[in-house]
Amino acid sequence: MPSKQVFESKDGATYTTSNGAPVNEPYAAQRLGLHGPLLLQDFHHIDLIAHFDRERIPERVVHAKGAGAHGYFEVTHDMSDLTDNTLLKSVGKKVKATARFSTVGGESGSPDTARDPRGFAIKLKTDEGNWDWVFNNTPVFFIRDPSKFPHFIHTQKRDPQTHLKDADAFWANAPADSSLQDYLGQNPESIHQIMILFSDRGTPNGYHNMHGYSGHTFKWFKADGSFVYTQLHVRANGGFKTFNNAEAGELAGSNPDYGIQSMFEAIESGNHPTWTVYVQTMTPEQAEKFRYNILDLTKVWPHSEYPLRPVGKLVLNENPQNYFAEIEQAAFSPSHLVPYIEPSADPVLQSRLFSYPDTHRHRLGVNYQQLPVNQPIVPVANFQRDGPATYISQGNRPNYQSSIQPLSYKGQKGTLEGGVRDRERELTHENFIGAAFRDLSEITELDFEQPRAMWSKVWNDQQREAYVQNVAGHFGAVKSSVVRDRQLSVWAAVDQGLSDRIAKAIGASPVKPLPVKKASEAVRFRANIGIAATL
Ligand code: HEM
Repeated sequence: MPSKQVFESKDGATYTTSNGAPVNEPYAAQRLGLHGPLLLQDFHHIDLIAHFDRERIPERVVHAKGAGAHGYFEVTHDMSDLTDNTLLKSVGKKVKATARFSTVGGESGSPDTARDPRGFAIKLKTDEGNWDWVFNNTPVFFIRDPSKFPHFIHTQKRDPQTHLKDADAFWANAPADSSLQDYLGQNPESIHQIMILFSDRGTPNGYHNMHGYSGHTFKWFKADGSFVYTQLHVRANGGFKTFNNAEAGELAGSNPDYGIQSMFEAIESGNHPTWTVYVQTMTPEQAEKFRYNILDLTKVWPHSEYPLRPVGKLVLNENPQNYFAEIEQAAFSPSHLVPYIEPSADPVLQSRLFSYPDTHRHRLGVNYQQLPVNQPIVPVANFQRDGPATYISQGNRPNYQSSIQPLSYKGQKGTLEGGVRDRERELTHENFIGAAFRDLSEITELDFEQPRAMWSKVWNDQQREAYVQNVAGHFGAVKSSVVRDRQLSVWAAVDQGLSDRIAKAIGASPVKPLPVKKASEAVRFRANIGIAATL
């Protein structure tokens, strides 16, 4: 029987070791006599320290700082003309959702109001498995070739020698005298995202007051094999709220956890954040004629040509009881898809399909899908067995596929029967995808049209001035004139007036536009990329 010294926590639980045995002296280590060394027999102490030593799991290599909550997604509009996905045909159906929002570049202790895109990840627990939306709060991204991602991210991480972040590194990824010169200047396809990032959209007011975008093109299928290209938009019903540069900077010092706190308190007080989910669609025929490549993540689809169509609503109404278990251990992946929803051949998306489960196996272990927050609500039936931290062993179900033992062995639910669909591919259109791929690394005049429209048509004078000042605050710290002039030439290719204003704001001389090919001059075949032949 426990003595009266046993620790009682507020829920009445008795303090125990990890094997459940009550402990009489929680704060004492066993030692030999009054001043002797500790005893190896003291399991409680070893249990305590050894577990503490292992408390940390690797933080996410990107998107380390975040906040999350639970809620639901409800289908409000029938999508059956677009897809045979069961959920999207079930108006009124609600599925449980877990959301995690994040900054991208900083460590898990970095400020929530840093200028950065925000991650916008949602896990939907559907009756046909988990469907993850691993989105950002910007409709476009910096790159369209995934090989650039680690380079680009490294320019925002700490310098290998000084262990400092360096403004030059963001705009430059190599010494100015090297042939590589600078990152963003050498990769001008990033300019559309740079326009958004250095507007006040780059400093949202809280995680729950912003929109989310798939950015990538996906495909929604029907049982007959037909499909439409789609892009999802998750729009905050309260609008996209932002801070200006000064407000964001002030909060970074006074309350670096502003985003976590404001969302937690909003949900706790019953002020539940809500979003309306919309889809943009494009038929394969429309895609052939579209001005831009639909696999190009640096472009948006104009709403006037491809209107937003409402799909459903997202509500966050429940804070986690335990942040680590319910949010830190959440493992989102764009490859967690459900029947009739498929990825497009966007190379960045294709690379991400691999990267996320790969990082989850490293960060959480091979059985990451069995952790409570990640477990599908439907039984999982497959041939994966054992490994560290197996919680769901699938009982006595056969561990191999047998022609005489169908998966519905012993009448268990959750079989793979009916889960494998073989669809006819539309070969003509796949050819389009092959040709599209080869254009992706090439910069043409098309890359500057949408950024130019943003500068000259979408923004008002106040927004234009905010952009110039926000850029100047960061870009002004670049030391190398080669790097600086190269980037100014990218802005000049967007608009000479924009470039000149930035140059003036940082005390530099005006620079002429980067020479840019016409779209008709694009090199359509790159002989050294063998993959084209395999598409
Ligand atoms: C997180 C890779 C581009 C959205 C991550 C993580 C990796 C990664 C390794 C950490 C995941 C974890 O530890 O759980 C990549 C690669 C990319 C890429 C290789 C391009 C080649 C993008 C794009 C988007 C995006 C284009 C949005 C459209 C996110 C989000 C998270 C994330 C929202 C955080 C998920 C969470 O809260 O757990 N990415 N990423 N990423 N990424 Fe990406």
